[in-house]
Amino acid sequence: MPSIRSWSLIALCAVLGAAGTASAQDSDNVTAEYEEGGKWFTADDIPTFKVSEDGTVDWYTFSGFRRYHAECHVCHGPDGEGSTYAPALKKSALNLDYYDFIDVVTNGKKEVNSSQNQVMPSFGTNKNVMCYIDDIYIYLKARGTDAIPRGRPAKKESKSDAFTENEDACMGG
Ligand code: HEC
Repeated sequence: MPSIRSWSLIALCAVLGAAGTASAQDSDNVTAEYEEGGKWFTADDIPTFKVSEDGTVDWYTFSGFRRYHAECHVCHGPDGEGSTYAPALKKSALNLDYYDFIDVVTNGKKEVNSSQNQVMPSFGTNKNVMCYIDDIYIYLKARGTDAIPRGRPAKKESKSDAFTENEDACMGG
């Protein structure tokens, strides 16, 4: 049996370890900690990407690549790089809080002043966007951290049953 003293040392290490992880999470909105139905989340339950060592991306990242290029790239430029008209979303996905990101896409945003007149449309009623908004967000975070290069991801995980069920429910409902 360990003495009382070494037990408390173990407990202290556990506390410090947990605290260390927590503060890392506060500054890191990116690291994949757990997976549900092929979708990855940070320790704070925020959707994120997962890229294997051989470059295989999770399905959501791949789906987000496709949806981004269908719905967003006309204004925001290919690969989340930005354009003269609209900001680089690969940066926004890291700088904005997840909920703020969703809020802008849902409700839109309008910057009008003497030097610019830019409008981010609201997509709240567009199922082709809203049913895949996490996918787009996940893809853009992968781009923002350079976890994936520009262009179409070459290798991807297969689509999970959970993805298909959610997609059907969202698009059909
Ligand atoms: C018609 C052009 C257009 C399209 C299409 C468009 N956006 Fe935008 N978006 C803009 C403009 C312009 C801004 C900057 C608005 C501002 O600063 O007020 C913007 C801003 C944003 C922002 C805020 C960025 C920041 O750093 O503050 C997000 C997030 C965003 N768009 C997401 C998207 C997503 C996701 C899509 C695709 C589903 C999309 N946009 C499609 C024009 C567009």
